Amino acid sequence: MSTLKTKENKYNIAVIPGDGIGSEVMESTITVLNNLNLDFNYIYGEAGDACLEKTGYALPEKTIEIVRNADACLFGAAGETAADVIVKLRQEMKMFANLRPVKSYPNTNSLAENIDFIIVRENTEGLYIADKEEFTDEGAVAKRVITREAEERIIDYAFQYAKDNNKSKVTGVHKANVLKKSDGLFKDIFYEVGEKYPDIEKEDFYVDATAMYLITQPEKFEVIVTTNLFGDILSDEGAGLVGGLGLIPSANIGNDGALFEPVHGSAPDIAGKGIANPIAMMLSAVMMLKYLDENESGEKLENAILKLLTEAKVLTGDLGGNATTNEVTNEIIKLL
Ligand code: NAI
Ligand code: MG
Repeated sequence: MSTLKTKENKYNIAVIPGDGIGSEVMESTITVLNNLNLDFNYIYGEAGDACLEKTGYALPEKTIEIVRNADACLFGAAGETAADVIVKLRQEMKMFANLRPVKSYPNTNSLAENIDFIIVRENTEGLYIADKEEFTDEGAVAKRVITREAEERIIDYAFQYAKDNNKSKVTGVHKANVLKKSDGLFKDIFYEVGEKYPDIEKEDFYVDATAMYLITQPEKFEVIVTTNLFGDILSDEGAGLVGGLGLIPSANIGNDGALFEPVHGSAPDIAGKGIANPIAMMLSAVMMLKYLDENESGEKLENAILKLLTEAKVLTGDLGGNATTNEVTNEIIKLL
């Protein structure tokens, strides 16, 4: 499928380190992956603020080509050009699902101990369609677009994810009491698609109630599926629940590609100091390994991270320790 694919390697992985701590956490993560005995060929691409300065483009065509030809992409972070880089890449690659696992790890600022759910957010429509927003004589209007095709696709993805990952329940989140047509349709589709998964429990909540339940009983959730805007907001609530950007990975999945990235940005305040927490990037790599069915390696890396957090001896500053990125990298390699 890929022109760049070599015979020797099982997978081609596009690697876009980007700006600031993006390149620091990426270097750390690739070093760790190199200790996992994986048959990967890494192809590096440039993007971000520094790339814009150097080439005149924040996301050069060549980088898009690299991502298109790869089996998966690891992305660090961009700076001020983030919207031009990551939003454009998601569109170019038609990555319709945005996945945000929310998991409590030991020795972190998690609000509860047994949180472990994932938010599956529709990434292509809803309220986030730029050309549907316009100024009017009275002010401005934004249109919210809900299509059967896109919502069936994301809801089916969520149920299939639940099935593949031994989850027992999927929660559909909407506001069908007020948005009777658009979210009424979402809710109908949720139960229609759900019929194909008889072994998985289904429930649905209004988004406002969900925002509260996430605080009062977060352990109730396993898989949440929702539309674009609601997913965006609940995802950041999820990040707040388990404390700290340095720990939160994400995935963008499409039919022809997938991109894995930490939720954090380029962190200019700590960039270049060698103290960034590489765990969010490493957990993004864990998601990639599972996506590529490299489950054994994925679990190995995840367990090493869990051990590191449980022992709490080698932690970066954001987690209350004083270790450098390199020290965490070396400790993870030891724990593997
Ligand atoms: P940020 O995530 O870069 O930083 C927020 C705060 O969290 C900072 O104090 C930072 O030091 C800390 N932090 C973040 N990741 C950390 C890590 N791995 N280890 C330790 N501390 C960490 O968000 P901010 O400050 O709003 O944005 C900075 C730049 O990043 C902006 O130019 C923004 O456009 C860009 N950005 C890029 C994103 C992307 O590429 N996907 C996402 C979010 C922001
Ligand atoms: Mg957001």
